[in-house]
Amino acid sequence: MAEAKKFDVVIRDARLIDGTGGPARQMNVAINGDRIAAVATPEDSENWWGSLQIDGSDRVLAPGFIDVHTHDDNAVLKTPAMPAKISQGVTTVIVGNCGISLAPISDIDPPPPLTLLGGRDRFRYDNMADYLAAVDKTQPSVNVAALVGHGTLRVGAMDDLDRVATASEIDVMSEKLAASLAAGAIGLSTGLYYKTSAAASTDEVIALAKVVAAHGGIYTTHMRDEADHIMTSLRETQTTSQQADVPVVISHHKCSKPNNWGRSSETLAFIDEARGTTQMGLDAYPYAAGSTVLDPDWVYEEIRIMITTSEPHPEASGRDLADIAKEWDLSLQEAAAKLLPAGAIYFQIDEADMQRILAYPPTMIGSDGLPHDEHPHPRLWGTFPRVLGHYCRDLGLFDLETAVHKMTGLPAKTFGLKDRGVVREGAYADLVIFDADNIKDLATYENPLQQSRGIDYVLVNGTLSLLLGNLCPERAGRVVRNN
Ligand code: ZN
Ligand code: CU
Repeated sequence: MAEAKKFDVVIRDARLIDGTGGPARQMNVAINGDRIAAVATPEDSENWWGSLQIDGSDRVLAPGFIDVHTHDDNAVLKTPAMPAKISQGVTTVIVGNCGISLAPISDIDPPPPLTLLGGRDRFRYDNMADYLAAVDKTQPSVNVAALVGHGTLRVGAMDDLDRVATASEIDVMSEKLAASLAAGAIGLSTGLYYKTSAAASTDEVIALAKVVAAHGGIYTTHMRDEADHIMTSLRETQTTSQQADVPVVISHHKCSKPNNWGRSSETLAFIDEARGTTQMGLDAYPYAAGSTVLDPDWVYEEIRIMITTSEPHPEASGRDLADIAKEWDLSLQEAAAKLLPAGAIYFQIDEADMQRILAYPPTMIGSDGLPHDEHPHPRLWGTFPRVLGHYCRDLGLFDLETAVHKMTGLPAKTFGLKDRGVVREGAYADLVIFDADNIKDLATYENPLQQSRGIDYVLVNGTLSLLLGNLCPERAGRVVRNN
């Protein structure tokens, strides 16, 4: 027998799905330090010996999942163990989506939707470098890549958000954005739907997107309208990307409100054509309900609305707005106003639209989970196992290789996360080992804080972070920088 070859970790007998979208193979993987040292067939790795050996038989080995759409900016500092994400096999989160980022801003009373990240005491990073340094120092269990929120920039640069930014205000925002990108942020996000940013013109966004292009970053957008005017918003998104020459990702793509159900055929046809000339990607979560701040202007009779958090009425969390309104003998709008500041789940997505969007090959997976909510949307704890179990295995929307690609190789490539999202020699050892036959999300709207089943091991930068479903004490996440 050949002399033993020693490694820090050896994973044997698993079915390897490497994140590229290519077919599963029977391969063993060896790790030294934070990197994958070797990938080989069982025959070629007979003499491998690991200080830690993991038996992967009857299991799938894949790159750790990349949650491309999160609001974990504060969570990675406040709850660095990140159980909601590590327990799903997520090893990297992209924070700062929907125009909402914790930096660069401090000493403000955050207006909604910045409140999704917390209150005044949480906004304490005047510049992105300080925020990223704080993340590095805290070292959460997951890697963190940060976007700069347009809403955050506006709040920091403007005294009145209900108008287009002036040239000098755009200069201030551009400078802060450029400094953030130089510090390692990977791009810009907008939330043109929200009141902090709705008055911004397309030109205002293009001016900022050009700064992103100059740094080789990415632009993500919660579009101005995901309902009746969704086609106008898609065209605006394409224009912005083209004029600024920057790749764009449409966030949590959906067709909101019952009168728009079924329109995903139309929107996906547009995206598909646009992709011929524009670098356009998209992400989605696997649920037929959205969640964000509660706003009395957004409530209406036709849909169910569930309260996720309320500052004056914490007891309302987890209850339906309609029931509360009835109890208080108020209209939906009046009851909503009384609950503010608050968050809600809006059941305004069509299941068939959601499935069509998920199945569209370029669609990536992003949870859009809201960790600050007391009774959060179940997507916070369930997104990735739900895609792998319910939508891939049970409904057969796509094969397992495709499902894994949507949460690993595709996002790593789109967001420029170097040496992540794939299993190959030299890549970072961000890995997940799961039971494809039994993986299942257990979080529900009624009971959202439930750990999923079927994720056995998670390694982040070579460090074991989840062991047989239990969190490990060591945390090994890092800031993933743009340079
Ligand atoms: Zn959003
Ligand atoms: Cu979001």
